[in-house]
Amino acid sequence: MSNKRLPVFELTIFCLVTVVFYIMGLLFFCQNSSNTMNSHWLYVGFQVVFIVALLSLLLFLRRILVSKNLEIAEKKAIQKNYLEQLNNTYEGTLKALSYALDLRDHGTWGHSARVVSYALAIAEKIGLTQQALRQLAWAGILHDIGKIGVPDSILLKKTALDPDEWENVKRHPTIGYEVIREIDFLKFAADIVLCHHEHYDGSGYPKGIKGEYIPLGARIFAIADALDAMTSDR
Ligand SMILES: [Fe+2]
Repeated sequence: MSNKRLPVFELTIFCLVTVVFYIMGLLFFCQNSSNTMNSHWLYVGFQVVFIVALLSLLLFLRRILVSKNLEIAEKKAIQKNYLEQLNNTYEGTLKALSYALDLRDHGTWGHSARVVSYALAIAEKIGLTQQALRQLAWAGILHDIGKIGVPDSILLKKTALDPDEWENVKRHPTIGYEVIREIDFLKFAADIVLCHHEHYDGSGYPKGIKGEYIPLGARIFAIADALDAMTSDR
């Protein structure tokens, strides 16, 4: 922050003194207008003083504007820095949560990181805003966080799941939504987490919604998730 003090008091005094001198000069000029030569030089002198005072005032106003602009730019830079720190804190917290899930269900972190990178590439291509991209990234990191509510006997089972077990796994988008929906900065991400297993034709879960009823972020995420399923060992 700039600590330069504007000389408001000094310049105000200067302007007042100049105006007083100017008025006194005019009065003197009027009273002595009979002496033509002296009056002429007095008149020129007071006009010079007036012009100098006017220029000083303009320079002073310009200095105020420059100073205010610098102040605004400094405040914007500080705000940007705070926002970046806040976003880094958010992302660090989300990564820690995802890492905690990864300790139970190995491979979640690697899968999430890949899906986030695919989803962001698609989202950038279709021109989503920076805010939407951020929410998509956060949702991608957390998309399977609801698996913390699925028992180990099901989550880590090596053989095929029976119908009841499968129904239990299908609860994870809803559990994930419940976990993060109260977190203010994750409100939009929560909808993506809830709908990340919905399918465009309505055959997905948990709600079976279709088409554009599915949030755009969740549709992008579903494409990224399918791409990762086709290109990695899961
Ligand atoms: Fe999932």
